[in-house]
Formats: sequence, structure tokens, C-alpha cells
Amino acid sequence: MKVNLTSYEERMLNGLEGRLKQVAIENIIKYAQVLGAEELCEVTKATVFTGSHLYLDILDSKDIDEVFSVMSMCSEEKLKLDKIAHGCYCQSCVAPLDREKWQKLNISKERFSSNEENLEYYRSAGVALAGSCIPYQTGWIPLMGEHFVTSESHVILMCNSIWGACGNSDGIEAGFWSIVCGRTPKWGNHIKENRLGTHIFNIECKADTETDWDLIGYTVGKKLPNHAIPVLKGSFKGVNIDKLKLCFASMATTSGAEMCHIVGVTPEAQTLEQAIGQNKIEKVISIRDEDLYESMKDLCYHEAGDVDYISLGCPHYSVEQLKQVSDFLEGKKINPNVNLQIWTSECLKTIADQSGYTAIIQESGGDIYTSSCPLVAGKETFVNSRGMAFDGGKQAHYIRSETDARVYYGSKMDCLRSAISGKWEGFHE
Ligand code: F3S
Repeated sequence: MKVNLTSYEERMLNGLEGRLKQVAIENIIKYAQVLGAEELCEVTKATVFTGSHLYLDILDSKDIDEVFSVMSMCSEEKLKLDKIAHGCYCQSCVAPLDREKWQKLNISKERFSSNEENLEYYRSAGVALAGSCIPYQTGWIPLMGEHFVTSESHVILMCNSIWGACGNSDGIEAGFWSIVCGRTPKWGNHIKENRLGTHIFNIECKADTETDWDLIGYTVGKKLPNHAIPVLKGSFKGVNIDKLKLCFASMATTSGAEMCHIVGVTPEAQTLEQAIGQNKIEKVISIRDEDLYESMKDLCYHEAGDVDYISLGCPHYSVEQLKQVSDFLEGKKINPNVNLQIWTSECLKTIADQSGYTAIIQESGGDIYTSSCPLVAGKETFVNSRGMAFDGGKQAHYIRSETDARVYYGSKMDCLRSAISGKWEGFHE
């Protein structure tokens, strides 16, 4: 299939903008051909997976140009990333460590140094080092109709669903091609007609707390077929970004959803009719309290027990959530057997530092970490743990395959009470 190119895209393809851009647009064109896209669209926002991530070790190379070429550009030819595309604002997603507290996470000096080198490589090419899976809380917000690429699955749902921006689950490598040439194939969610709802979910369960929304996302994802767009319908009150980020992170864990209409919240779904347009609805599904209970059972170990490792902040915590933790912990002490880690971005931690939240959390015995999370940092961060607790369904779901420990899941407050007592204080059968 022929992909129609603009004159600038032709220039890139002909190598007139340099070999790197030429390879990037060649890859994007091949990707477009596989997808059946007839043209490309301009990418103005991107997040990429920078840092010395564990999956890069497979190449066994310390040559960063080689790592970039093979692992990101999918090219055996050695290339150098000198500059990202003009007009594309790109932030880094999480990397495998906290750049200040890496030693507290049992990360080796070698990985720290290699991470620094990797981050500098991307920084000098124009990537802003935000180190977060919630880029929309640090100035990265694609607006309605804007085309974005991102390495974080819930960000795809968030930007399509809440801001009406346009993006697909392209994967890590295609994201790198896009930041180099500034283009992505025009297909999927980049085309208005493809963004209409296919399945209606009547949300008849409780939808008040962050945990309710986390479980709603997890449950909807379990019931959603491939290539479907859910429309959530209910009488929602008090929906906010923190609830939605949990909902979308969990939905992207149990499904491949990229777009989710929430009637009355999503700009393209102010009414049910607007959400589905002329689409024939394939199925109507009700989500009730008993469905959330089943998801809770999936996520939370079934018997009470001790906890020694608690991680909050998947996705990364907002300042408001850090304040809630600080308010709860003020004047209290964490059980000495418990390692309490709270994850956010460096930028948001700075606000927490200046607002006194970090000091209160540290005084209690916990700490705030940045730019990563246990899953991304790897097993070193929770080695020897026997009882682990999380308030994010995504982290609780995926960590099970990485550990033999009991994995508990519950609300932020369940986790914090457990941090004080050293015993799981939340749901169990
Ligand atoms: Fe973020 Fe790690 Fe969760 S990258 S979304 S905190 S799995």
C-alpha cells in the first residue's frame, strides 16, 4: 500500500534530513503499511522509555549508540540520536531507579552509572527528564485533536479519554521512531470515526473512592473483548484525575483498551448518544459490587498475615495524594519491620519537600522515591519481602509473577494502617 507523504516527509525519506531521520521514517512507513494507514500525522507530544531498563541488558552492550540503534531504532546500522524532532515535546517516562536514593533500593553502582549515561544521552537530544508515568501532571498534556505517542499504557487511555487527544498503543520502539521523525501512522484512534464506543458498561457498583475506581477499571478490562471501546455509564460524582488514573492503569492491565468513554466526563461523550454515534452496540454489561469483590479477590492474598514491604503510588502519586499520606502519618511511627516506599516524580516530590510532606513521611519512618516503581526497578528493591501490600491494582497484579511473597491489595489507608501495625489491615476472606 502506498503511504501519501508531504514534501517534508519525502525529504526525510530521501535522506535529506540525515540518516537517522531517514531510518525513523522508513520504519514508520513500514509500520503504516502493515496497518493500512494511507498517511502520517504529526506528533507533538511524546513520552519515551529512557534509562538503563532491565530489558536492554539482553543486548549485552555498553555502547549507548549501539543500544539505541538496535533496541530502539531496530537497526543493525549504528546510529546516533543527536536531536529529537522539531515541534515534538518529549518527556522521559520512568527509569529503573531513583537518582538520589538508588542505594536504598539495592541498585548497583554500575546500573546507576549506566542509567545516568543513558539519561544524559536522551537529555542532550532534547528529551525533558521528567521520569514519570504521569506526564500529564508535569506539564505534558496533549489537547483535543493533538497526536501523541507514549510508552505508558494508562496514559494512552487518559489522553484519548479525558482530553480528546489522539494516540494508540504503539509500543516502545515505534515511540522512538516517532520522536526522531515527528510522525506516526494515521490509523486507529488518530481517526475520529474509530473513537466511538462499542460496549456499554452500566456502572451499578459503588464508584466513590480511588479503590472503587481502580477496581472498576480492573473489572471492566476483564470483561472487555479485544479491540473494543467501553462506554462507562452511571451517576458519577466526585470523579477526579487520581481516581481516573487508577481506573485506566488497571483497565490497561486486564485489557488492551486505548479509549474509554465516561459519559459526562469524556469530552467526546457528554451524552451516551455522542459516545456511540452511529455504532451498533455489541454488548451491554452491568458492573455490580459483587464484580468488584471478585476483582478484589483476584488482587489480594486470601489470608491475613504480616507485611514488611508496602509500596504506594502506581501510577505515581500526585501532590494531593502525597499530602493525604503525610496527613495520616503525622505524629505516627511506621512499624520498624516495614519498608514503606511512596513513588512519584522528582518534580512533584519537590513540591512535597517544600510543603513539608516529605519531612513528615520521613519522620514516621517511610520515604518518597522518584522516577521508578518496584516493577520497573526490579526485584532488588523488594528482595526478601514475605508480605507485600499495594494500593494500585496494576502493581499488585504484575508483581505476583516477580515474587513468592504474599501480595495484598487495598486502599491507601489500608496500606498505611498496615505500615503502622506490620499486619495486613485490609480485605481478606
Ligand atoms: Fe507507573 Fe510503575 Fe505503575 S511505571 S503505572 S508506577 S507499574
